[in-house]
Amino acid sequence: MSNQSRAVARTMKSIETSDGAGVRMRRSIGTEGLDHFDPFLLLDHFSSDDASDYIGGFPDHPHRGFETVTYMLAGAMRHRDNAGNNGYLGPGSVQWMTAGRGIVHSEMPEQEEGLMSGFQLWVNLPAEHKMCPPRYQDIAPEDVPEVELDGGAVVRVLAGTAFGIEGPVRDVMVRPLYLDIRLRPGAGLVVPVTKGHNALVYVYDGNTQVGGTPVARHTLALLGDGDEVMLFSGQDGARLLLIAGQPIGEPVARYGPFVMNTREEIVQAVQDFQAGRF
Ligand code: CO
Repeated sequence: MSNQSRAVARTMKSIETSDGAGVRMRRSIGTEGLDHFDPFLLLDHFSSDDASDYIGGFPDHPHRGFETVTYMLAGAMRHRDNAGNNGYLGPGSVQWMTAGRGIVHSEMPEQEEGLMSGFQLWVNLPAEHKMCPPRYQDIAPEDVPEVELDGGAVVRVLAGTAFGIEGPVRDVMVRPLYLDIRLRPGAGLVVPVTKGHNALVYVYDGNTQVGGTPVARHTLALLGDGDEVMLFSGQDGARLLLIAGQPIGEPVARYGPFVMNTREEIVQAVQDFQAGRF
């Protein structure tokens, strides 16, 4: 049986916004136009060499009911939480944080000037795991495997398996695939993606064609089903994220940093946070 290539179902330009204490970013999931893309709840891209765009960072704030994934391209952040965990996120590193039943943490810049660039993805948890104990997977840059392929592509595997290489992030409920892909000018790449999983491409530099559809810089493409994704870069080359995961198929009730299944559970989360039970 021949492979079925995934087509682009929808493209959306990311939206400029700010969060935390005035950090400027581009948001492509978790917007008015796209509340979530099961199992993904939010995708933010921050990239600036103007310190005033990031210096405020993300002071103490709570999370409950999902996972946050921070992937740094340039610059450094310091992570601290109310359980005493403390982590340094340098260029190329990944932090996969399972907030579970709740944490309060801060994510602050470890620099006062220079380029700060990276992504934060929120991944939902199934109902039965929303109240699990918090957990961290801190991955150093050298532990993220990178593979150079014929045809002019370089792929970093953060999570899941691609081209025979398994990424360092393990044991996540939605079996995510998270790839950072660099395409040289005129490069092509075919990436196998598990059929039935929801998949997206976010182009953060250059232009690319996804399944034959042009996708411009700073644009999110949601893909239809299939078992592989065909990518081609233009004459400038391209850099993009390819992310996929198993849809959870449960109701999503969200309020700021809390994502549960019902309104009642959100009210409970707010009460628990206010009572210091995180
Ligand atoms: Co946070």
